[in-house]
Amino acid sequence: MAVLKIARMGHPVLLRRCDPVADPGAPEIRRLVADMMETMEDAPGVGLAAPQVHVPLRLFVFRVPGARREDDPEDLPQSNTVLINPEIAFLTEERVLRWEGCLSIPGLRAAVPRAPRIRYRGVDLEGNPIERVVSGFHAGVVQHEYDHLDGILYPMRMQDFRLFGFTEELHRAAEAQAQAQAQAQAQRQTGSDA
Ligand code: NI
Repeated sequence: MAVLKIARMGHPVLLRRCDPVADPGAPEIRRLVADMMETMEDAPGVGLAAPQVHVPLRLFVFRVPGARREDDPEDLPQSNTVLINPEIAFLTEERVLRWEGCLSIPGLRAAVPRAPRIRYRGVDLEGNPIERVVSGFHAGVVQHEYDHLDGILYPMRMQDFRLFGFTEELHRAAEAQAQAQAQAQAQRQTGSDA
């Protein structure tokens, strides 16, 4: 197994439509998937698509850690898994803004419109079919990774570029805002006691 080099935005491999995997059980596909799992954990990230490691094939690996799940029974937890030749169906017209980052766009985050509920299909390394209906974080990760297979990076989905920034600055701003709110609440409580 090996940690692979991740392509960054600007590399043409991230902009092309990837080709279907002809034989999901082929030894070179198994090796690629094992290396992608290791690369995802090393990064660390919650998803990685084959074109991000310079292989333009329709497969990605991902995981849904328990701590990242939202309060939704369809936001299914998921240990490291691969989806080969996937298909997605959006189960709602509605789109919600989800904060996401990308290992190919390091250091940045943005709020991206995503379908809150999807069905996805694909196969695993044994060629066994996978089909799930998911919501929340799980649905967001799968849409992000699926987009990579069509050469789409999240900035190409964005509508409000004010909701785009460096992770470090966004955290700092969120902390400052939480602090200001706590102070305002403390002042209100003091006021009502007087
Ligand atoms: Ni990405």
